[in-house]
Amino acid sequence: MMQYHIRRPWQLHESRHTPESVWNNRRQHRREFLQSVGRSAAAAGLAGSLIGCREPATEEEILSAGSETTAPLPGAEHFPAPRNPMFEYGREETSRRDAAEYSNFYEFTTSKEVWRYIGDFQPVPWAVTVDGLCRNPQTFDLDDLYRNFTLEERDYRFRCVETWAMCVPWTGFTLRELLQKVDPLPDANYVAFETFDRPEEAPTRRKSTEFPWPYREGLSLEEARNELTLLATGVFGQPLPKQHGAPVRLVLPWKYGFKSIKSIVRITLTKERPPTFWNEAWPDAYGFIANVEPDIPHPSWPQTSEWMLGTRERHETVRFNGYGEFVGHLYPA
Ligand code: MTE
Repeated sequence: MMQYHIRRPWQLHESRHTPESVWNNRRQHRREFLQSVGRSAAAAGLAGSLIGCREPATEEEILSAGSETTAPLPGAEHFPAPRNPMFEYGREETSRRDAAEYSNFYEFTTSKEVWRYIGDFQPVPWAVTVDGLCRNPQTFDLDDLYRNFTLEERDYRFRCVETWAMCVPWTGFTLRELLQKVDPLPDANYVAFETFDRPEEAPTRRKSTEFPWPYREGLSLEEARNELTLLATGVFGQPLPKQHGAPVRLVLPWKYGFKSIKSIVRITLTKERPPTFWNEAWPDAYGFIANVEPDIPHPSWPQTSEWMLGTRERHETVRFNGYGEFVGHLYPA
């Protein structure tokens, strides 16, 4: 297997780690600091010298980042979709701002501030090709995705292997519905997913040759047909913003977040287990199944507890992220 020498963001030198307590208070301290400096500077007529000191970004800046360079996503009239009452968080909902501010999208950056790097990304027009071992391969454009599937809203918990978690309402349809349209052949065992691959629109994709681009993921056909497996086209009652994986991404609430591939362009039915991005990059740390399992630590993070974006509230991690009643039968002990 090829070896990748990736300098991962969590491999910072000790001296560059931010202790959690410092991070917790960062926004508050920064605001107070800027306010106090702002008052003295204004008094001294030195406001111009503050260039480089940025206020924390506003919700508007984070959510509209990159929109000035992009055609608006079509389909706004399909939102909000009817809420499916079967799915509830059992926790407080994460704010739209907190969810959009802190994310992972390696094609753009290895930092969490993806929204700062998405200006060149063009999610319109878009098409998703579904092919491989099926009787009726098809390509769906955005209009097809919004119009020809049963859009609904589901509140899901979401858990990243880095131990952050959130609760957000996704809009989408089941992958099962899409698979019915293409009609898998009997020898299809797996479903492979692939992200867009346009280096000119994505800075890390362009510069970092050590990653096994494009980002790819995979599921067994049984997992793909599970009731929980959602192809999301929206979040918080609106089309997906770029940082959340516009215009269409996978959401798998019982698996670690890296399985929920964003900005999908191809879905292929295969006989053999497909290669996946993180498993290729670091096989010892990232498995193919990657279910949320509190008793199986990742080399960089114990998995026994998690913290919520925004509030930083800690919770004990629950097996399958609490979705055992839907998926437990897929993984007999
Ligand atoms: N999809 C692509 N194409 N590229 C990525 O880097 N990161 C994954 C997943 N999907 C990623 C991706 C990881 S590690 C996580 S935790 C989730 O996206 C984050 O989803 P969110 O930003 O909507 O919270």
